[in-house]
Amino acid sequence: MPRNIIDITDLTVAEIDQLIATAEDIVAHPAKYQDACAHKQLATLFFEPSTRTRLSFESAMLSLGGSTLGFSDAMNSSTSKGETVGDTIHTVSCYADIIAMRHPKEGAPYAAAQFSEVPIINAGDGGHNHPTQTLTDLLTIHREKNRLDNFTIGFCGDLKFGRTVHSLVNALSRYENIHFVLVSPLELKLPRYVKEEALKKRGIPYTQTTDLESVIPQLDILYMTRVQKERFFNEEEYLRLKDSYVLTPEKLASAKESLSILHPLPRVNEISVAVDKDPRAAYWKQVKNGKYIRMALILKLLGIEV
Ligand code: NCD
Repeated sequence: MPRNIIDITDLTVAEIDQLIATAEDIVAHPAKYQDACAHKQLATLFFEPSTRTRLSFESAMLSLGGSTLGFSDAMNSSTSKGETVGDTIHTVSCYADIIAMRHPKEGAPYAAAQFSEVPIINAGDGGHNHPTQTLTDLLTIHREKNRLDNFTIGFCGDLKFGRTVHSLVNALSRYENIHFVLVSPLELKLPRYVKEEALKKRGIPYTQTTDLESVIPQLDILYMTRVQKERFFNEEEYLRLKDSYVLTPEKLASAKESLSILHPLPRVNEISVAVDKDPRAAYWKQVKNGKYIRMALILKLLGIEV
């Protein structure tokens, strides 16, 4: 059976720490890695829109000396003829050495893995999980804070449908002494199953509020998210909630000097462009980190040591 990454807990904490160390080595010595995946092929199968995740996977493989194939619009694939995900994956696993797949249905990458002879990476499944964004976030936190424990992190925005939030809460629940502050409208609270599994079961403290400004001063990290338009059944509800939180320089006046602001991107309106100039904004660095950590993950899943 190939090694798949469907959920962030498919990796142990020790493995995550090792991936971070490899990513740091890639940043320091890129030339060492430039031919590591020569003659290897990565397929990116995106049944849902993407900019960063797909391109960072492709850029990662190209920077390792490998090549890429795939589709970014399922309507250009045999999916539009009625082919099942299982048959599509079975086919692609005859060509590629590793597959990164995004799908609007929760659990689709897990189902797909049953049909694959090569490693499958979940690049986002509906409103469920997004483990490689979490690796990106962890690398970013590590680079900003030099640790992955002992801090207070605020998650703000759409915590209900935001898959990056679910995976990151899960991942951080395995590190020591992290306080979680969950900021959302009442309609978009973190799902109960995530709270139960990641926080309550482990006795981890958390705070829930609708008011970002009242909690900003205590945060070491602020993880902003977009309201996930495509997951709403009712457009009116989306329009009512979409601008619940807009981070501005004024709102950051009471924040710590050492705060790090993260966002998985794309941003819609929830961080004003004026914040980009604030030294605490880490989201563009986060984009770069996404490529390095995916390089490390591809090497690991292909069993290639440099
Ligand atoms: C996120 C996603 O696709 O879940 N984007 C990403 O991969 N960087 C976040 C989002 O779409 O809001």
